Amino acid sequence: MAETRDFGLTVFGATGFTGGLCAEYLGEHLPDDVPWALAGRNTEKLQAVHDALAASGVTNLPALLTADINDQASLETMARRSNVIITTVGPYVWYGEGLVRACADNGTHYCDLTGEPEFVCNMISRYHQSARKTGAAIVNCCGFDSIPHDAGALFTVRELARACGGPPQGRVTLQGVVTASGTFSGGTWQSALTAFGRPRENQLAMRHARMLLDHEYPKTAHALAPLPRRDTELGGWLCPMPTIDPFMVMRSARAVSGYGNDFHYGHYLASKSLPKMVGGIGGIGGLLLAAQIKPVRERLLTLRQSGEGPAKEKRDRSWFKVTFRGEAEGTRVITQVSGGDPGYDETAKMLAETAMGLALDKDAPRATGVVTPVMALEDGLVKRLQKARIHFQRLR
Ligand SMILES: NC(=O)c1ccc[n+]([C@@H]2O[C@H](COP(=O)([O-])OP(=O)(O)OC[C@H]3O[C@@H](n4cnc5c(N)ncnc54)[C@H](OP(=O)(O)O)[C@@H]3O)[C@@H](O)[C@H]2O)c1
Repeated sequence: MAETRDFGLTVFGATGFTGGLCAEYLGEHLPDDVPWALAGRNTEKLQAVHDALAASGVTNLPALLTADINDQASLETMARRSNVIITTVGPYVWYGEGLVRACADNGTHYCDLTGEPEFVCNMISRYHQSARKTGAAIVNCCGFDSIPHDAGALFTVRELARACGGPPQGRVTLQGVVTASGTFSGGTWQSALTAFGRPRENQLAMRHARMLLDHEYPKTAHALAPLPRRDTELGGWLCPMPTIDPFMVMRSARAVSGYGNDFHYGHYLASKSLPKMVGGIGGIGGLLLAAQIKPVRERLLTLRQSGEGPAKEKRDRSWFKVTFRGEAEGTRVITQVSGGDPGYDETAKMLAETAMGLALDKDAPRATGVVTPVMALEDGLVKRLQKARIHFQRLR
């Protein structure tokens, strides 16, 4: 980004639950010489977030910008004035596209917290080429979806290379297994139910995006067959998790060097016992089915309101672990990424660190277009997260 803009970084959605946590983190960690802004549609709410930052002793206080997703000109202005925009305004499938368009057109780097496959795939199909032309990095899934998995897979292939004495050759197989505790916010509830209610749109968007990805990144990456099974080394009963995370890991594997030319990935949720796993599948399956029936979905949407989220005491007790097994050339490594509250405290940290990486790190972004966090920052992302006390370790 050659020209100087008013703001190194802008947080859009700062009045929401996760946007507020992200603003707090940036208030503590953004260098004093980086001007930044909070953006949203409600100036009184924005002023309250600003005042809370001032009261907590933040010295590099943000400017306030008015922007509304229903006013495209306000998104264009925000994009032209910022080097990097963070957005926590979701569900992204309803609210996200205008800002992606503004950032892609104006060469503005962009980070979001979506976990919605339809949105990510549509952004790839519609804005990858224009973002490449202007030099913008449009980085989706910068929260618990999908950073621990995306960055953890990169860390694991680097550890495999160390164990193999060089970049792994031939078939490389990674399995990532998640265990976590925590609850979710109103915003996450709304986004998840919206995505569950659109299976056909999801499939279509995925099909279009795959065509573009196959053309842009000819290296292959394959999903392992999604079979539930018991695996004591990886944490008990494993249930395949059809979230957006494997899609993100495999995109990084195709675009970044070090994953080999024949990469395979499987993504699972671990349960201690078979009844627990079956109960979990039943619960998620029930919610998926319920989301297909419009009146039921609308009733469910009212159960948690936008702006609500788990209290600090609850978040302080929450945690996550993602354990990986990497195998190549007859060598195997076990690694783990772990941290505190996955959905909000660590998500706000991951989002802010990705944005600061784009705004401040030498050689960033490593790739432009619609990209994954690892494509955007490569090993610099892992270094930033380690410094921010998200743990990456080799267990065996
Ligand atoms: N994938 C992950 O790991 C992860 C983790 C956490 C959150 N998330 C996602 O992040 C998103 C935010 O979650 P949250 O719980 O923080 O939601 P939230 O508390 O409901 O916040 C939503 C924000 O969007 C703003 N907004 C809504 N309509 C707008 C409009 N027309 N123009 C401008 N701003 C508008 C709201 O502003 P007002 O205050 O003015 O209403 C608020 O700031 C959700 O999509 C959620 O799924 C993902």
